[in-house]
Amino acid sequence: MSPTFIVTGTDTDVGKTVFAAALAGALNGYYWKPVQAGLVDISDAQSVSDLSGLHADHILPEAYRLTTPCSPHRAAAIDGVEIDPTQLALPVVLGPLIVEGAGGALVPFRSDWLHADQFAAWNKPVIIVARTALGTINHSLLTIEALRFRGISIHGIAFVGDVHQDSEDIIVRVSGVRRLGRLPHLPVLTGETVKAAFAANFELADFT
Ligand SMILES: Nc1ncnc2c1ncn2[C@@H]1O[C@H](COP(=O)(O)OP(=O)(O)OP(=O)(O)O)[C@@H](O)[C@H]1O
Ligand SMILES: [Mg+2]
Repeated sequence: MSPTFIVTGTDTDVGKTVFAAALAGALNGYYWKPVQAGLVDISDAQSVSDLSGLHADHILPEAYRLTTPCSPHRAAAIDGVEIDPTQLALPVVLGPLIVEGAGGALVPFRSDWLHADQFAAWNKPVIIVARTALGTINHSLLTIEALRFRGISIHGIAFVGDVHQDSEDIIVRVSGVRRLGRLPHLPVLTGETVKAAFAANFELADFT
């Protein structure tokens, strides 16, 4: 059976989309961003399309496309809709599926339904994308605790940024979560640079 991975982050803007593009591309999988909040900038699905090398039909349409770049619960309210968890069922695809959340694990879809609640409902392993920069120890360990509190399976942690070996080491030692690798800061982001960086810094076998 093909794997499904849920990609969350320690924060917004940590590099979830770039990592998800790299992983989905390496697996020749499918990418799904269920809720896109903020349609002024380039959407995450478009970024993944640009960076993954995946065929267009491997980029699945969002369940919700919300105008305002803010928490989905608020973006939905501004657009006059309410996010319905029954609309967030995982799509059925013939291959690996990579799902990217918005922001981090406790970001609300609704005041009574957080990302972590949805992760628990999906019942698929979660990959945490974490910065290597200052603040990452606290953010990573908090994210791990929040997921474990709900019984969510954590596949591993993927770091993004320049090397800060001690931060990575202490997160792994304290939590026992597997380190999957580190995507370095890439001066130029293209399909080629992302693919090469993933191949050099991650083991595909960890995701199959
Ligand atoms: N490895 C990298 N090298 C260089 N730039 C990167 C890298 N990873 C991410 N970025 C840049 O950092 C910014 C945030 O990355 P990204 O969009 O992947 O974050 P995100 O966690 O998906 O954010 P969101 O919460 O909005 O979905 C983007 O401008 C992206 O191009
Ligand atoms: Mg993103």
